[in-house]
This record gives sequence, C-alpha cells and structure tokens, in this order.
Amino acid sequence: MLAIIGGSGLTQLANLDVSHREVVRTPYGEPSGAVTFGQICGHEVAFLARHGYGHTIPPHEVNYRANIWALWKRGAVGIISVASVGSIRADLKPGDVVIPHQIIDYTWGRKSTFHDGPDCTVTHIDFTEPYDRRLRQKLIAAAAAIGIPVSDSSVYAATQGPRLETAAEINRLERDGVDLVGMTGMPEAALARELGVPYAAINVVANYAAGRADSRDGISFEAIESVLHESMGRVREVIEQMVGCNGNGSSNGSGCNG
Ligand code: HPA
Repeated sequence: MLAIIGGSGLTQLANLDVSHREVVRTPYGEPSGAVTFGQICGHEVAFLARHGYGHTIPPHEVNYRANIWALWKRGAVGIISVASVGSIRADLKPGDVVIPHQIIDYTWGRKSTFHDGPDCTVTHIDFTEPYDRRLRQKLIAAAAAIGIPVSDSSVYAATQGPRLETAAEINRLERDGVDLVGMTGMPEAALARELGVPYAAINVVANYAAGRADSRDGISFEAIESVLHESMGRVREVIEQMVGCNGNGSSNGSGCNG
C-alpha cells in the first residue's frame, strides 16, 4: 500500500474513495491525525495530513516519528511526501512541480531518529541518496505519461520555520547549492529510511523565496494560497497515474520491493 503525506494545500485527497479512518497509537506519541485508508481507482492508499486535518500543527511541532511509524505499522510500502516550497531558482516558478533529488537539513531540535533513548544502540543509516530512486522514477514517469512537466533534479533545503527565511538566509542557501526551500522534508525522509520504507517527495513551488523575483519586497500569502489551490490538482493527477489509474501502476503502489 502506498501512503501519501499531504502538506499545505493538500489536507485531503479528493480522489480517495475512503474506506475507514484509524487513530494509530505509536510508541512516539500522537500522529498528526487519523490515517485515512481508501482506494484510488481500486488501488489501496493511505493518507495523512502532515499539519493535521484542520492545519493546526506548525512544521517544527509535527510529530514526524509518530507519522512515519504509524504509516509503516499500517503497512505502507512506499511514502510520497507532498509539500509546498519556495524557489530560489529563477527558472522554477510558482506553480511548477518538482521532484527533488537531494536534501540539506537546516532544522534543529526535532526528534530525528527512532534510535535514541537509553536502551538503543547507536544506529546509522546510509543517506547518500535521501530519496528512494525507484519511487522517484515512478513519480517522474507518471508525470511524463500524462504530460505534466516536472523538474527532476533539485536540492531541497529543510528550514526550521515556522517563519519564512530572510533574504540573506536565502542567499546563503543558494551559495550552499539549494534550489528549493521548505520546512517539513526533514527529519521525515530520514525516519522513513530508518524503517526501510521507500520515500520520495513531490513539491509544488508556492512562491519565489524571500528576496527573489516577485518576493523581492515580501511574500504574499494570498498569492501562495491561490497558487497551491491551482497546482495541487496536478499533483493529484500524478499520484493517480502512479498508483495505476490508467493501467500503468504497480498493485502495491511502491514498485520498490520487486
Ligand atoms: N520557505 C520555506 N518554506 C516554504 C516556502 C518558503 O519560501 N514556501 C512554501 N514553503
């Protein structure tokens, strides 16, 4: 079963034929909300709203461990993270859809591993490629199959939030090699890797990052909302294609486990 974590602009999946909702208890506390189970075109999918169904949980307070653990425990064999981002690159404009390939983590103070506590042995994961290669390829192929242009090589920076960045911080991120900036990609991706669940992200550019292009003098939240409203439909279409609505998907949605 494929799981989707929806971020700002995607608090529910309109195309999900809901079968039931379940509050999953975890050793790490409460997930952001009940996990919604259902089918998209007959394919089993689970959905979780990262910020809660009422969009009440800010990025630094999301219980990433509980969310990832709950989806894993309920049988997710792949996780697609949907999130909005700011763009540092002039050629990635508001409304564009991006499937990033790398991450730089600037967050702090978040519970970022399942392996802590007095009884845990120190455990490291390989994170050279933070996103699952095959799951990314499936997203890219799905978008191509339905003619939705996506940028498929971008470096995503996870910042702490909930405030947006200063123009100087964005300049520094650019010097670091960052293309896109968001607040929720970490530690989510690393936690999924710790549990061995393939994880990939699909991002919608909501705005130019602070100090860039039409965000030179500030960022308009009204503009962000309208961009997300208009663009999330395309993300839903990519997900539908990926799970197999047009007969091309794999039955478990992940394509990662052979
Ligand atoms: N910065 C950080 N996170 C974001 C942005 C941004 O400009 N836009 C959407 N999420």
